[in-house]
Amino acid sequence: CGIVGYIGFRNATDVLIDGLRRLEYRGYDSAGVAIKADGRLHVTKKAGKLSVLAGALEETPLKGHLGVGHTRWATHGPPTDANAHPHPTERGELVVIHNGIIENYLPLKERLLERGHTFASETDSEVLAHLIEEHYQGDLEAAVRAALAEVQGAYAIVVAHQNHEEIVVARTVSPLVIGLGEGENLVASDVPALLPYTRRVIFLHDGDMAVITRDAVRVTDLKGAPLEREVVEVEWSLEDAEKGGYPHYMLKEIFEQPTALQNTLGGRLHEENAEVALGIELDPHAFDRVHVIACGTAFYAGWVGKYLIEALARIPVEAEIASEYRYRDPVVDERTLAIVISQSGETVDTLEALREAKRRGAKSLGVINAKGSTITRETDATLYIHAGPEIGVASTKAYTAMLAAMSLIAIWLGRARGTLEEAAALELLRELRRLPRLVEEVLERRDVVAHVAEKYHQATDFLFLGRHIQAPTAYEGALKLKEISYIHAEAYPAGEMKHGPIALIDPHLPVVVLATEGPLYEKTLSNVQEVRARGGHIIAVATDGDEEIRRFAQDVIYVPRVHPLLSPIVSVVPLQLLAYEIAVLLGRDVDQPRNLAKSVTVE
Ligand code: G6P
Repeated sequence: CGIVGYIGFRNATDVLIDGLRRLEYRGYDSAGVAIKADGRLHVTKKAGKLSVLAGALEETPLKGHLGVGHTRWATHGPPTDANAHPHPTERGELVVIHNGIIENYLPLKERLLERGHTFASETDSEVLAHLIEEHYQGDLEAAVRAALAEVQGAYAIVVAHQNHEEIVVARTVSPLVIGLGEGENLVASDVPALLPYTRRVIFLHDGDMAVITRDAVRVTDLKGAPLEREVVEVEWSLEDAEKGGYPHYMLKEIFEQPTALQNTLGGRLHEENAEVALGIELDPHAFDRVHVIACGTAFYAGWVGKYLIEALARIPVEAEIASEYRYRDPVVDERTLAIVISQSGETVDTLEALREAKRRGAKSLGVINAKGSTITRETDATLYIHAGPEIGVASTKAYTAMLAAMSLIAIWLGRARGTLEEAAALELLRELRRLPRLVEEVLERRDVVAHVAEKYHQATDFLFLGRHIQAPTAYEGALKLKEISYIHAEAYPAGEMKHGPIALIDPHLPVVVLATEGPLYEKTLSNVQEVRARGGHIIAVATDGDEEIRRFAQDVIYVPRVHPLLSPIVSVVPLQLLAYEIAVLLGRDVDQPRNLAKSVTVE
């Protein structure tokens, strides 16, 4: 979602609409502004595109020098006028804009209801507005601070109050950046919205709060202690800014994975009863088999899903490439659940395979990124992965978000069907909650991967090996490399190597092996030795602390320890980076590789 806030001498409405337009590429389905005029806050918000809001503001203009605005890409609650931001309190003295998820909003809401608050929307964000009002005693900053002390979750928030010539903001996880002007200051979720007014910015860190007036910006921590934050001069063009300062969308999206995972998992993990809340209206007892159908990267997510669902819910699962499924006369009945996975929700092979399964009586569940896409209109239920717009043709953040979503589905089925014990479920939930942080750690080790890329980028072929739930990771690693570097890469389940591909091994063939901790670690190690004995070069992806692997591998890329069933999510990240670094070294067009399309709507 996009956020813009303005305080200064210009017409705030114009600045907000212009800024929101520059953030539109993030997707939107409703938008709103609050403008302070005559000592009051006036809110206009509309479901639909930004142009609907702009039209409404042309008919009934709001003029003022302080305002906050938002474009929303609905996660929780449908895109309606009421659910759009900003959220005012009942009397409208105060408004809140919020990106992210308030995990504990239900108990907070119950308490506020008891104290007589009434709510106009279903959103967790509105709860925040009422909570701040509850703490307000004349000092807005203090009220926001007191409210945030009670809140668990991820947020970027922007707050305005009719009695104050200031905007109070805070962030954890979701980004916020402040733009410093002369006699005016701005805040936004993303740099492009600031560029027409200033290039001097402060990127807020996790746990920062700030009070913004016309002439000053004061940053503190959540307890109120003052903080010094560097003022950065951004030299990005508008196009660079849309890439968040990264040279390519793909790299930006690789680095967005912690946030994307946070959004996939947000509000869905319930440790208190070891359950997940998916909000899908399907009866988990209504099927005896599952067919997972998808194309490309999404198919590999489906293959991991097969391992997860079979392990946790003990239902037989077939994972199949959509273009095969639709024409092979599949055995489907009313007790089949068809899970279709797609970033775009438009891939025609996947759509047709879904239609085929439905014709034969299957129930259907979509695991989808793009809101309102064709597939979501045809499935019985949709679990959105909330990865945000993915622009690079090679899929990265959508993949890890799909994997997280498949874990949630497996846990949901396992719990409902009694095959997953509470303690085991709880362990998985705790591990899922750590995932964004673990992926962050992998990203911090980019230079290790860059070094490996430097060493091997001249190779003409690569082999990728992995076993069990890491076999699909090997395939996805090979696919990423093929797609963007045009180097020939093949993947095999490691145990199958001895049945043929081992003939390829020679000192010129780098072999990437997924050798993370898990039940088949020792077996994988034997396969590594087979390669080594024939002079192959091993690049191992291994778990932190594994010293043994160094005896066999020329290069080791370590990843943090995680539950083996979740290891694909952590381990694929260095493979994405490896493909990226190699493609850059070879001068390839990373974001738009030759011959490929982001969304394939032909057969
Ligand atoms: C295209 C893209 C792939 C993607 C596949 C499935 O081939 O180039 O990156 O994995 O389609 O796309 P979907 O939108 O259905 O996930």
